[in-house]
Amino acid sequence: MIWETIVTTRAADGRVHIAPMGIRIEGDRVVLAPFKPSTTLENVLATGAAAVNMTDDVRVFAGCLTGRREWPTVPCESVPCVRLADPIGHRELRLAQVEEDAVRPRLLCDVVLERSHRQFQGFNRAQAAVVEAAILVSRLQMLPAAKIESELAYLAIAIDKTAGVAEREAWSWLMAQVEQFTGESRQEKI
Ligand SMILES: Cc1cc2nc3c(=O)[nH]c(=O)nc-3n(C[C@H](O)[C@H](O)[C@H](O)COP(=O)(O)O)c2cc1C
Repeated sequence: MIWETIVTTRAADGRVHIAPMGIRIEGDRVVLAPFKPSTTLENVLATGAAAVNMTDDVRVFAGCLTGRREWPTVPCESVPCVRLADPIGHRELRLAQVEEDAVRPRLLCDVVLERSHRQFQGFNRAQAAVVEAAILVSRLQMLPAAKIESELAYLAIAIDKTAGVAEREAWSWLMAQVEQFTGESRQEKI
């Protein structure tokens, strides 16, 4: 099973990095699997630490995919890292083992601290739609235009019916990115 989370890391010089990432839970460990090249990968290898943030603020997912990587963070309690300031919960991780791979290494991490900050409010279809659309946006170069168009049209139904202000804002950032990409591809073909 894969859980879509926000992974926060720090570079050796202290710079904060925030990235949406799917994690797996294997026994007591959390497994990160960043595609190379990846700042998250470099940072975890440099510092041996990361935080996994469980958040329902889908603007963070959409924002990171559309050049909005500055989100409020606070220091972790037990590893040299930061976490999001307002997640539902977070886990602080220490790197235990690296499974090398030319494309997608696996970082097996021990959970050194786990905190719950707020209550889970229930599922929201618009939030799920934003996460799906963010994944589509991360693959714009690889997917056929017709597939992107039809999947977004379906996801837009959940936005129309169930979104709040944050979900609409996140959706608008993603749609602007799609429009920019499709506009540029049209220009290239002319
Ligand atoms: C929901 C979601 C899940 C993602 N999961 C992964 C992942 O498991 N591994 C990965 O390399 N990129 C993943 N991505 C794409 C990254 O967030 C994006 O490419 C990011 O910039 C990672 O590279 P970085 O570590 O250099 O920031 C995901 C994106 C989204 C929207």
